[in-house]
Amino acid sequence: MADIEPISFERLPAHIAIIMDGNGRWAEKRHLPRMAGHRAGTENLRNIIKACVEFGVKYLTVYAFSTENWKRPQDEIDGLMRILADVLEKEIEELHQQGVCLRHIGRLEKLDPKIQEKINSAIKLTKNNDQLFMNIAWNYGGRDEIIYAVHQIIEQQIEPKQINEETFSDFLYTHQSPDPDLVIRTSGEMRTSNFLLWQSAYSEWYFTPVLWPDFGREELMEAIFDFGNRERRFGGRKNKDSDKSYAG
Ligand code: IPE
Ligand code: IPE
Ligand code: MG
Repeated sequence: MADIEPISFERLPAHIAIIMDGNGRWAEKRHLPRMAGHRAGTENLRNIIKACVEFGVKYLTVYAFSTENWKRPQDEIDGLMRILADVLEKEIEELHQQGVCLRHIGRLEKLDPKIQEKINSAIKLTKNNDQLFMNIAWNYGGRDEIIYAVHQIIEQQIEPKQINEETFSDFLYTHQSPDPDLVIRTSGEMRTSNFLLWQSAYSEWYFTPVLWPDFGREELMEAIFDFGNRERRFGGRKNKDSDKSYAG
């Protein structure tokens, strides 16, 4: 195999978060059942994980099942849970070999105890890895996460004056990850669908019509190049040497 030239990005996001959308439409276009789309989407996630490791992205968060996805027909929900169980069983060793540290964000309690067990053992197995920190958002909702944080704060009787943006973030599911630099949504939809509401306040958003199973390494590169051309101001002003009033 020929050596692959390492790609040099002008600016690499430390944390990429992805709303993996469009599996159903991908299947429909091929006259396949929706589950075939979800399987293809899962296959694709492997490529994206590999690409993140290759590019040196440190954090990847993927939205795989939302708190609203329980509204779907039961057979689709069951199919999605089966896929998760399969991945945790059959692919965890490979992820471990790649140095992926797997974490879960979302409500675990509502999931089948067997799945909870599989998630917990995958987390335990990979906890010392540090090539790529990967959060899987499963039964995740941004509003639910904020409510969960408030509950924790009340239960732990934290003093109001101790609560600020930083300490509040410590109560979110994502407390071990920095805020995402880049949030990607595939399939042409332009909404958050309750993903990382708090954390994405100053993320750069990238929307693409490409359906998730078709969003491969090349498409990820394109998104990262696009990110490299963005000017992030965080509410401040463009940093010019001539502009002495710039304080940010
Ligand atoms: C994303 O694909 C996967 C999940 C939400 C679980 P969809 O199933 O939403 O696919 P579309 O949006 O119907 O094409
Ligand atoms: C968002 O996609 C959730 C995931 C990708 C897991 P949906 O397909 O559920 O979102 P809506 O319903 O189009 O907003
Ligand atoms: Mg969708």
